[in-house]
This record gives sequence, C-alpha cells and structure tokens, in this order.
Amino acid sequence: MSVGTKTPHDAGALHVTGAARYTDDIPTPAGTLHLAFGLSTIARGRITAMDLSAVRAAEGVLDVLVADDLPHDNDVSPSAHDEPLLATGKVHYLGQPIFLVVATSHLAARKAARLSAVEYAEETPILSIDDAIKADSHFEDGPRIYTKGDVQAALSKAKNRLQGSVEIGGQEHFYLEGHAALALPQEGGDMVVHASSQHPTEIQHKVAEALGTPMHSVRVEVRRMGGGFGGKESQGNALCVACAVVAAKHQRPAKMRYDRDDDMTITGKRHEFRIDYDVGFAPDGRLTAVDFTQYARCGWAQDLSLPVADRAMLHADNTYHLEHARITSHRLKTNTQSNTAFRGFGGPQGIVGIERVMDHVAHHLGLDPLEVRRRNFYASGGSISAKTKQTTPYGMAVTDSILDELVGQLEESSDYQARRRAVADWNARNPVLKRGIALTPVKFGISFTLTHLNQAGALVHVYQDGSIHLNHGGTEMGQGLFTKVAQVAASSFGVPLETVKITATDTGKVPNTSATAASSGSDLNGMAVLNACEEIKARIADFLSERAQGAEVRFEAGKVHVGGEVLTFAEAINLAYTNRVSLSATGFYKTPDLAWDRIKGEGRPFFYFAYGAAVSEVVIDTLTGENRILRTDILHDCGRSLNPALDIGQIEGGFVQGAGWLTMEELVWDDTGALKTHAPATYKIPCASDAPDVFNVALWEGENRADTVFKSKAVGEPPLMLGISVWAALSDAIAACGPDYPALDAPATAERVLDACQRLRA
Ligand code: MTE
Ligand code: MOS
Repeated sequence: MSVGTKTPHDAGALHVTGAARYTDDIPTPAGTLHLAFGLSTIARGRITAMDLSAVRAAEGVLDVLVADDLPHDNDVSPSAHDEPLLATGKVHYLGQPIFLVVATSHLAARKAARLSAVEYAEETPILSIDDAIKADSHFEDGPRIYTKGDVQAALSKAKNRLQGSVEIGGQEHFYLEGHAALALPQEGGDMVVHASSQHPTEIQHKVAEALGTPMHSVRVEVRRMGGGFGGKESQGNALCVACAVVAAKHQRPAKMRYDRDDDMTITGKRHEFRIDYDVGFAPDGRLTAVDFTQYARCGWAQDLSLPVADRAMLHADNTYHLEHARITSHRLKTNTQSNTAFRGFGGPQGIVGIERVMDHVAHHLGLDPLEVRRRNFYASGGSISAKTKQTTPYGMAVTDSILDELVGQLEESSDYQARRRAVADWNARNPVLKRGIALTPVKFGISFTLTHLNQAGALVHVYQDGSIHLNHGGTEMGQGLFTKVAQVAASSFGVPLETVKITATDTGKVPNTSATAASSGSDLNGMAVLNACEEIKARIADFLSERAQGAEVRFEAGKVHVGGEVLTFAEAINLAYTNRVSLSATGFYKTPDLAWDRIKGEGRPFFYFAYGAAVSEVVIDTLTGENRILRTDILHDCGRSLNPALDIGQIEGGFVQGAGWLTMEELVWDDTGALKTHAPATYKIPCASDAPDVFNVALWEGENRADTVFKSKAVGEPPLMLGISVWAALSDAIAACGPDYPALDAPATAERVLDACQRLRA
C-alpha cells in the first residue's frame, strides 16, 4: 500500500538538480513583454504631480500604465475591494505600486521604473501599533471580543494576579522563489496565466475582473511554487493582474517577476502583534481567569487580516482549559505593507500570548513551567464524560485531546526532568554562559474558519493502458501535497505510485478551489481524489462483477481480483474501456460538522485539533546575547501519517521557521515607513547551522479520531508553533541572571537577550 510509506517528494530529484520548472523557468514565446512596478517613495500622502516622461523615454520601454489606463477593475484585494493595483491619487505605504512599466526585458523595465519624478503632499504616516492606537486607526467598527464566563468577577476573586504585555514581531516569508507571473493571450480575448500562487482560483477571479471577462475566459495554471508559506495566497494577485492587463492590451505575452528587494518592499508579511494580559491564578498555578487584549498591525489594506486576527483569538487558549476568558482583538490599520497569511495564520501569535502567561505565572510561583502548563491542560479525550465536556473560549468542546499522554511521553524521551536539574546545576557553576530549557505544547485547529472554503474538487482519468492522470485543486509549494495525494490515488486503485501522473493545478480542470492553506490541502484534496477514484472503481467493479455472475471484485497490488480470476490492472481497464465503461470522474469533498459564527465567536470552527510538543535547550552568552539551540526533541501528532518522511520534513521545517521568527528574524522600518530590512543582507533567516545541534523528531502513534483521509492529520502549520519552545528556553536562560521575570519580547535577537540579561543583573 502506498499510503503510510516514506515515499520521497515527487519532485525531490528535480529540486536538487535544478530541473524543477518554476514560473520563471517556463520558456517564454518571442516578443514577451517584461513588467516592473514604479513604487511610492513615501508612506502616506497624495500624489500632486507625476512626470513619467523619463520612464517612457528609457531604453526598451514600450508602455507605461497608471491607474486611469486600466480597462476595468483596479483592484487586487482578496477580500474588501480596497487594494488598487495602481495607486489612485493617494498612497498608503512606502513601496506601493503607482505605475507599471512595460519593456522588452526584465532589466530595462526595472531600470526605467526608477526614473519617475513624482511629487506628493505628504501626511504623517501611521506606522507602529502605538501610532495606530493613538490615531484610532483600525478595520471593522470596533474590536472583536470573545468571552467565556465572567472574567471581571473571576479576576477580582483570584488569589494571585499578574499583568504584562508582550511584543511579537512580524516575519518575512522568504520563500526561495520570489513572486512571478506569465500571461499568455489567446484567441477571442481569452487569457492563460501561469502563476506562483497558492490560490489559482483567486487569480482567475481577479484577472477576470481586471479584463472585464467572465471567469470562463481565464485559465490559471500552477505547477509548483518554491515556497509560499501563506505569502502566495493573495500577494500574487498584483503580478498576475498586471501581466494579464498588459498581455490583453498589447496582444503579447507578459511576464513579471519581483526582484527580492521589491518582493520584500511590496508584499505583506506576518502580522506584528502586541498582547496585553491580565491573569488570575491559584497557588498551584491553575488559571482562574485571563483577559487578553490583542493588537494586530494589519497594514494599509484589509487583505486576510480579519480572519488572521480571528485565528489569533481562536488560539489564545492553546492547550489550556480556561473557565473565564475574554479575548479582545484590535485590527489596526497602518501605513505599512498589507500584512497577510503566514504559516499559522495568526494562531502562532495567539499561542505566544498564553505561553508567555504560563511562563510568567510559573516564574511568579517558583514552579516548574511544565508543571504549571500540565495543570492547565484540556483533559485528555478519553477521560472526558459527555457531561463535563471542556470547551474553548469560543464554545467548542475539546474531546480529542491527547496532551497528557503526548507530553508525558516527550518528557520521558527527552529526559526533561534530569536535564532541567542539569541546567540549574550548570547555571550555578557558570557565570557567563547560561542555559535554559522549556517544553511548550501546541493545539491547532484544523479547518478554514470561513466555513464555505472547506471544500475541494478532483479530476481523475484512467487511460485505456491503465495509466492514471491525477488532478485536484491543491497547489504544491514544497510541502509534498502532490506526493501525498498521488499516494491516496495509488492506494485506492491498488497500483504502484508510478502509475499515477501528477499534474499541474489548473482552473480549467477543477473549478472553484480554495487556497491551499489552513494546512488542509491533503485533508480536502485527498478526500476529493479518493471520492473520484472510488467512483471509477465502483463502475469498473460493477461491470466486472456483472460479467462474472456477481463475483466479488478487489483492487490489490496492481491486480484486480474477480472471484477467482486475476487480471492485471491494465487488463481490467482495457476490458472496461472496450465495454464502454466511463473511466473518468470528478470528485468532491466538504468537511462535515462545521458551524461557526465569527461575529459572536461561537460554534465549531474546526473539524479537529492537531497536537504536538517540543522541548528545547539553549545556551546564551550573557555578555553578548549570542545564543544557540543545543537540542530539541519533538513529538508531533499527524494522526496516521500519510507519509512519515514528508511529515517529519514539515515538522523540522516548521519548527526552524518558528524558531527563526521568534529569535533572529527582525523587520525594521525607519521613521519614514521605509522597510530597512529588505534583503538577506539585513534580514536574517535561519540557515542549516541554526537548526538544533541535536534534533530528535518523532511522530505520535495514533490515528485521527475524526474521519479524515486514511485517518491522517494536517501537518503544514502546527509544527511552526513548536518553535515557541526556543523562545521560552531563552527566557528561562535569562532568568538565571537575576530574580526578576525576563519579560522577553520577540524576536529575541542577541540584542534583546543581552538587554534582558543586563536588566536582570542591574
Ligand atoms: N512547506 C513548504 N515546504 N513550503 C511551504 O510554502 N507552506 C505552509 C505549509 N508547509 C509551506 C510548507 C503553509 S502556510 C501551509 S497552509 C501548508 O503547508 C499548506 O499545505 P498543506 O495544506 O498541503 O499542508
Ligand atoms: Mo498557510 S498561512 O494557511 O498558507
């Protein structure tokens, strides 16, 4: 059986040899035009004069477009129609596209884009969270609030009480492949677009609006991305729309690729957050009430900020059962890039908030933080009776918890207790180098919180030679979705994986798809593919059975058993074909049992939860703030893994990306709103040598209790939050410098670590 095996990524060899074809590698037809945006050089104001004559006169330039030149919709927003492709008089952030250069080469377009003379009436930009709070600048009418119990009463009754605040920086996606698009005009006004996008249907939709055509005139194809991480859910709309508009106008292919600096300057990132907390707790560390106020810096346009901020609220409890909780969420509008989806989609920020509370409470009481965490866990699924169901702050019963068992097992396998004592011993003997250790858990809700997005389609053809053509609505960005889904098809037909051809995502084959996001790619598309395969199998089985007087039919190991008769798969298919059995089917799946009211904050937004935990040990140099991860042990729950090799890859990569976010990746804007960290020279992402020196990753053995594809669980995002263990361990190491609580903000860069050490020693 193919499902459950450690099958390598279908394009692994192509990736490492450089043969994998990305959008920029697609051979372009002669006469292809190349595009570049001219960008705003101020963060907020009105354009009073725009002289583009030097741009137009530049070598290789064929055309320059401004907002008024666009034939139909000037909008690339995925949500609120508030994001013009080209600025319409006002500019809202430094880096906003204001005109579009069309040239004969990529370089000519980029060079010309810098030759504009634009004059502005500048206004004071709203840049920081503080600026936005002061200016009362936000999306939606007011803050969104979820409540459970009576927080005020419980807080005032609490034996112990603490207040605090944590700043959490944003994060650049740093997909290795930058944004790129290629539009190819067809006869009769049709358009084909190749995109580096997690959401081909959204590209199709926005391109159709921009061209003033029905969606049926636009076909979008995505073979793969060199990483998306949420940064390609909506941020590719601008390039695709620009290419399509130019391709339609000039009736020539048009291509656009952001250079890295432009990519970082133009596109949105992970939302920066501030989380204030007020917590009441018992002497044993059990929380009696918690009041969170979350501030999210959304940037200039709405994009996906509302659901991102919702998910931060939905993860404010993480793995902890809260009797009395209030979560208030402010969605702040600022003159910065429009922040967007990023692995975890707000969940990580929400979880950082409560993990900070756990550490703060433990420090205050002088207890082991693991003990405090454990005392607050949701009860394990098996031990909850129907009457005492524990609910989240948004009223969903948590019935599938495996926290006690999973964390207990990790505590053993990582030797947590002995190592915690060894760390204390080390710190007592070493004045300069201090060590820290922390175990942090994660519970992540699986499903899109916009319920209707939880659907997927598939298209499967079996050809007369027995080979299979597989297509579905998911996109491949390195996570291995295509391999997993091909394994599902191969398992269903009982054929070797090589029988199944993986093909590019194509809006002409499977329509109305959701973004490949929310970690639900394999859950949704795997099920849709299974549905299509089972349909074809049923037709073949009916026919073969009828032909053999009702004999039982089984598909197994490349063979089809009909009663006592054994046919090869190809023979069975050929027989079915010559007897006019249809060998092609669409498949469809929608996640059952979801009911969610996002305004009230009540219901069941998630089909199930994915769980995991990590123990990280770090060492810091208290004289410089430099630090490294000595060892990390992870136990993560993928249900019954579809592919343990790919799942472990997702866990390792997610963990390192999460640790990078909270330790070394720092975005810096200056007072004018210019992003100063717009290239790898100034923005530090983790490299291979930043991974833990000892890195043990294991998969939890157990199947998903929810009825998912082969009882697997989604794995794309949850492991990112295991990186929080590194941040908590750094805080633990700093705590060895003095009696105060370190109150470490993120990212915990060497400067911040040093600063905290000095504060505690002072
Ligand atoms: N893994 C790789 N290698 N590259 C990526 O871009 N994106 C992550 C995660 N893992 C990503 C990745 C994000 S943000 C999501 S939502 C999921 O993969 C999407 O894929 P899935 O639903 O198939 O897990
Ligand atoms: Mo992932 S942030 O849901 O694309």
